[in-house]
Amino acid sequence: MQLSEELAKRRDVINKEIEKALKIGDNVTLKKAMAHYPQAGGKRLRPVLAMLVADAISCTSEKTFPFGCALELVHNFTLVHDDIMDRDDFRRGIESVHKVFGEPTAIIAGDALFSLAFEVLSRTDVEPAKLRGLLRDTAVIVRIIAEGQQVDMEFENRKDVSEDEYLSMIGDKTASLFSLAAKGGAIIGGGTEQQVEQASSYGYHLGMGFQIRDDIIGIEGDEKAIGKPVGSDIRNGKRTLIAVKAHEVLKGKEMKRFQEIFGNESAGEDDIKDAVSILRSAGAIDYAQNAANEYAVNANESLKIF
Ligand code: IPE
Ligand code: IPE
Ligand code: MG
Ligand code: MG
Repeated sequence: MQLSEELAKRRDVINKEIEKALKIGDNVTLKKAMAHYPQAGGKRLRPVLAMLVADAISCTSEKTFPFGCALELVHNFTLVHDDIMDRDDFRRGIESVHKVFGEPTAIIAGDALFSLAFEVLSRTDVEPAKLRGLLRDTAVIVRIIAEGQQVDMEFENRKDVSEDEYLSMIGDKTASLFSLAAKGGAIIGGGTEQQVEQASSYGYHLGMGFQIRDDIIGIEGDEKAIGKPVGSDIRNGKRTLIAVKAHEVLKGKEMKRFQEIFGNESAGEDDIKDAVSILRSAGAIDYAQNAANEYAVNANESLKIF
């Protein structure tokens, strides 16, 4: 079976679970705002990851549904707030929650998705000690994501962000949730301590590579295909690995031109094209792609025990 078919099959199952969870609540506007992103699609990678790990251990993917659904709700909550902080007007091919419903409702919808996640997670059918562990781990990761997101914003105002600082930031904002997805799948699947640890490491490395690749797509991807803005990281002065590398290697005329565009909210399409071509010639995009590939190779190392 093709990977895309395998993902689609699992996505369908998890979508039913999400749809069910989102039926709760009385306020029509809030319910619509909460369902806006989940109903618009998304790859559902985190729940699928939990399912795959549980299946690899004991063919128990159904037991991961509440947990996977909870992580997807957490993920969607972070996306709603992320689009406010990143000033991005569309995602998953539709207008952002805050564009349609206004910022105040988007903030509340994010909060409500976040708490709904814990309602759903509490329904996981595992022994009490395991459930307590999953609830605690999920709460910890949401706080870690918040730290990553805060640092991501603070980097916009700093010129001297190092590669290690960038890696630590994406470890918090993105890889932590991937790691939890795989770890939770292993715990629910009844994995050994070593399997839980290796699953967690797999998810972490996968998440690191995923975020770096997402940053590349956000610079040279096709807006129609990905359904979210391309070039906005450059306008916002986001310290992606590409930008960190560029600040390290660019000199003279190129550096001057790049600095005119980077972090300039009113940069036009031609400016963005110039910036991308400067980044490409400087080797910054290739550098990031190689780093992403390395994380993928390391991720696969962790799969050996399965
Ligand atoms: C987007 O995540 C945010 C990042 C961590 C880069 P996804 O690319 O998994 O988003 P959806 O859920 O498929 O829309
Ligand atoms: C991804 O944020 C991480 C979270 C949402 C927690 P980004 O800002 O890098 O991702 P996109 O490109 O908006 O999806
Ligand atoms: Mg964003
Ligand atoms: Mg962001």
